[in-house]
Amino acid sequence: MALELNDMQGLLIRGFGNLQGAQYVLLNFSDAVQAKGYLKELFPLITPANEKPTDHALQVAFTYEGISFLQMPVEGLESFSREFREGMTDTHRQFVLGDSGDNDPKNWEWGSPDKDVIHMLLMVFSENNETLVEKLKTEKDRADKYGVNVLHSLPSGFLQNHKEHFGFRDDISRPIIEELVDNPEKITGITFPAGEFIMGYKNLYDEFSPAPKLPKEYDKNDLLPLCPEEPGLKDFGKNGTYLIFRQLEQDVFTFWEFLKNQSKSEEEAIKIASKMVGRWPDGSPLTLCPVKNDPELSISNNFGFWEEDKAGLKCPIGSHIRRTNPRDHLVTEKTKKDSAEMASKHRMIRKGRPYGNPVTDDLNPVDLMSLSKDDEKRGLHFICLVTDIRRQFEFVQNNWVNFHKFGGLDHDADPIIGNHFQNSEVITDEFSIPDYPVKRKIKNLPNFTITKGGSYFFIPGLKAIQFLANHE
Ligand code: HEM
Repeated sequence: MALELNDMQGLLIRGFGNLQGAQYVLLNFSDAVQAKGYLKELFPLITPANEKPTDHALQVAFTYEGISFLQMPVEGLESFSREFREGMTDTHRQFVLGDSGDNDPKNWEWGSPDKDVIHMLLMVFSENNETLVEKLKTEKDRADKYGVNVLHSLPSGFLQNHKEHFGFRDDISRPIIEELVDNPEKITGITFPAGEFIMGYKNLYDEFSPAPKLPKEYDKNDLLPLCPEEPGLKDFGKNGTYLIFRQLEQDVFTFWEFLKNQSKSEEEAIKIASKMVGRWPDGSPLTLCPVKNDPELSISNNFGFWEEDKAGLKCPIGSHIRRTNPRDHLVTEKTKKDSAEMASKHRMIRKGRPYGNPVTDDLNPVDLMSLSKDDEKRGLHFICLVTDIRRQFEFVQNNWVNFHKFGGLDHDADPIIGNHFQNSEVITDEFSIPDYPVKRKIKNLPNFTITKGGSYFFIPGLKAIQFLANHE
């Protein structure tokens, strides 16, 4: 089925990488009629997926509270997934996501229940930071006109060479959407049916992904398509998806200080850090070049773990990339294909951007190691898109990132983003590096990354936005 790009927001298929300036604006409505007026005015400015903007783009997403505030009928509200309805800080979800201790929502800057309720996320992208300032001013004036409150404005920006703040190349491994491939012969990785990431299309189970819907009598202007398998219902989800947003603060000084203390040389510190990530700072994967980075392989993503590195001697089992995408190494007693199939059901499309000033411009690890602590806040505005929050994002966070027994380990969580602690039942602050003849165990890992805010959003298709703006 061809993708309806003209009814989709652009973020679903591109990252607007050519638009360097970005700001994520968290909004709260004060009046439903005014909020709908605001959406009506904003609607023609939202960038659809069939346009590739060269100067600026606007995208919108809503929380469950926002959609409810816009008077979505109860049947429609109830048809959203439980995770979305409950929200990221619900007690059970907090447990699933590992948001305890340092990561407890009570310490968050936004998104926790004791803070102002977020209704909408406005994503403003612009060519550069200068032009972004003008766009933001226009958007602030528009919000003011309709009594829409700006709760937080979160600036983001790319770092040199696609790096994240710890100094590693990011944004290499991405699931490829089958329906967007023009020339299948050129594709080396596995492709995914659109329904894994966009509602209204078939997913890996050959089913339409679960999506919000509502009885057709509510759609008085006949804006929404019919549900493909339930013709009495209108498909509110078509061409939309869930957007997960987490503000993850990175403590760059502590990260490199800790690694220096574990090592006899800078070279060794970089090697351990790379073992934690699963790639060298330039992006080349340890599985393909375990001894030294290879610039030729810096964006290489065509590898598995089972044949190349079953025991994790090259890329540790507990490394960040092996936990977040175990590829073919998971099911040891079955075939490699079973594992690859299983892992593929838990993928996400990452769209985040770093925030805060980098410690140095080129983020060379040797320089990062020699600097002293500063007071600047920096991190990653982690954003990912999935049609099933539970099966995709929460599963990865719960069963792979934070699970201390992942892959036969005992006391480890993800070394980069895991919640590291010790209590009477669990220890999660170790990192095991398989080696021959003896493995190495690094203990007492502090938390290098701390959650500072977050929320689940729904990024609707364009007809669904029109429905929200117009129905009474
Ligand atoms: C500050 C926080 C984070 C940092 C610094 C970080 C860093 C990285 C880096 C350097 C890579 C390797 C480059 C690539 O393969 O694209 C990577 C890959 C990845 N990360 Fe993260 N990450 C962070 C948070 C997260 C979170 C919260 C998740 C989801 C729970 C996540 C999921 C992934 C996935 C799925 C991959 C690709 C793995 C693969 O397919 O090989 N990351 N990350």
